Amino acid sequence: METRTLILSKTLSCLFCVFYFVASVSATLSFNFYAASCPTAEFLIRNTVTSSSSNDPSIPGKLLRLVFHDCFVEGCDASLMLQGNNTEQTDPGNRSVGGYSVIESAKRVLELFCPGTVSCADIIALAARDAVEIAGGPVIPIPTGRRDGMVSVASNVRPNIVDTSFTMDEMVKIFSAKGLSLLDLVVLSGAHTVGAAHCNTFRDRFQQDSMGKLIDKTIDSSYANELMKQCPSGDMASVTVNIDPETSMVFDNQYYKNLLVHKGLFQSDSVLLNDDSTRKFVEDFANDQELFFESWGQSFMKLTSVGVKTGDEGEIRRICAATNA
Ligand code: HEM
Repeated sequence: METRTLILSKTLSCLFCVFYFVASVSATLSFNFYAASCPTAEFLIRNTVTSSSSNDPSIPGKLLRLVFHDCFVEGCDASLMLQGNNTEQTDPGNRSVGGYSVIESAKRVLELFCPGTVSCADIIALAARDAVEIAGGPVIPIPTGRRDGMVSVASNVRPNIVDTSFTMDEMVKIFSAKGLSLLDLVVLSGAHTVGAAHCNTFRDRFQQDSMGKLIDKTIDSSYANELMKQCPSGDMASVTVNIDPETSMVFDNQYYKNLLVHKGLFQSDSVLLNDDSTRKFVEDFANDQELFFESWGQSFMKLTSVGVKTGDEGEIRRICAATNA
């Protein structure tokens, strides 16, 4: 099916899913959830994200990765914010996740204006939404009313987070376990249009055969050579490169254009072009930024709805780093 037709049918079914979602899955997740209890909530969060991003341009990328890693483990419930022995933050899969201090700053401001009202889980989702817009991406209204979880265990991270070495089948399996489709996988991977990655997350791709040729044929060799120059051996742990070498600060469809010319940074990016089931999506998004933006809105809403806690579940934390108890 043509990507646009598929997305149109998803939009129609999404109208139904929003209805279904509001009616059943999450009785209290709704648009303008804080209209009466904290009308300035979204404004205050946006202000914090805007000022943090103008001081540190790496913030939008960090916030976008933070929401992904939060939502995939225990659902979008700010379990990733909890500090302590053996919490999700301590797992190696989360070692380089950042942006926590921006969420805590927003929470501090919200506690002054509307104490005990706005969840850390909603702050994470809204901050990521704002990060996309600040970086030039689409404006997306998202429903709120998430509550904060009480459980955060390091051993839950590995089984739920996708690794760069995963095959398409392995990625699809994890995404579908979260209610996300193959199309969502391609769309949400478009987040790699912003941000940076440590050299040790893609160093496997530099392996050469005895003739000095790259074993991994799915990456452009001049791009790989450039990356090798940027990643001095021996200092792989601290050095980072931009995931999208062309427009690393801008949320656009350049990620897909890079994939078409075999300049996907991770193996899990390259696979989206090389697999027959996803190539057409990549081509269509590379050719049509509006199509990507429309799809992003839908997939991002699904991502930020994964396993949400609402109503009487969980709590509204006073600070994001610890439960209230
Ligand atoms: C589909 C499988 C995915 C894999 C295997 C993957 C893997 C990675 C890895 C290894 C990094 C580099 C981390 C570092 O070195 O610090 C990274 C960065 C990033 N990822 Fe993903 N990711 C995936 C999907 C996603 C999704 C769905 C999102 C958001 C919706 C996302 C957003 C980001 C962002 C924004 C960065 C840059 C972070 C920064 O600048 O600090 N990724 N990803």
